[in-house]
Amino acid sequence: MCETVFLELCLMRCTIFFPFCRFGADVMEIVASWTKNLCIGISQSHLPNHVDNANNLSAGEPEKELSNWSVLDVGTGNGLLLQEFAKQGFSDLTGTDYSEGAIDLARSLADRAEFTNIKFSVDDILDTKLDKKFKLVIDKGTLDAIGLHPDGPLKRSMYWDSISSLVASGGLLVITSCNSTKDELIQEVEAFNHRSGASPESDTAVDQAFQYVDHVQSYPTFTFGGSAGSRVATVAFLRN
Ligand SMILES: C[S@@+](CC[C@H](N)C(=O)[O-])C[C@H]1O[C@@H](n2cnc3c(N)ncnc32)[C@H](O)[C@@H]1O
Repeated sequence: MCETVFLELCLMRCTIFFPFCRFGADVMEIVASWTKNLCIGISQSHLPNHVDNANNLSAGEPEKELSNWSVLDVGTGNGLLLQEFAKQGFSDLTGTDYSEGAIDLARSLADRAEFTNIKFSVDDILDTKLDKKFKLVIDKGTLDAIGLHPDGPLKRSMYWDSISSLVASGGLLVITSCNSTKDELIQEVEAFNHRSGASPESDTAVDQAFQYVDHVQSYPTFTFGGSAGSRVATVAFLRN
């Protein structure tokens, strides 16, 4: 199938599954620059409360700091999010997807844009064959897609087991969703921490697999039934 037709099919599928969601280039840019600031903040040993406006975090030698962050994008699709991370200065970039067609497309789009250092491979996050850990794991829409499976709750639970084995200790997991709110993602992480043996009462990082760090606050919000929310949520969790 020709590349463009496949890309159009991918985009059409996303529109069918996520019809109310603005999940495009603007979101990618926000996710990449916000995550960059968070990583630099962590590298400089100050966890920012909120990094939306932390432009001064890039003072110093950001390229050097970002080169220490190995990045894995699970369910990379067309791989454009990784290209955005490359533009922000990340250099150790890997994208995986269980769809061979998506990986072929991501690779050819990256080559065409001259991001030839991005690595791509076919891998099912629910049965991962990756044997290394990454300092930064990003997911944009993949947990959403997994949740659409008829066995959604079971698959989501498998996802958390797998993803926790891929994030290095002290590393970050950054999830972007247009199906779950920030609070729902935090609750899901708390449920995983509980299942994996952490004490539900404890809020110290030592006892928890993942600890909430921050979320993007700059997405437009809407109000429905008296509650305010955003159609897109990006939340970062620190791996113990
Ligand atoms: C909504 S799309 C998002 C694609 C890309 N992350 C983006 O933001 O444009 C979800 C992606 O997850 C992939 N995916 C779904 N289930 C997966 C699994 N179990 N393992 C790996 N990839 C998966 C799909 O093939 C698809 O490319």
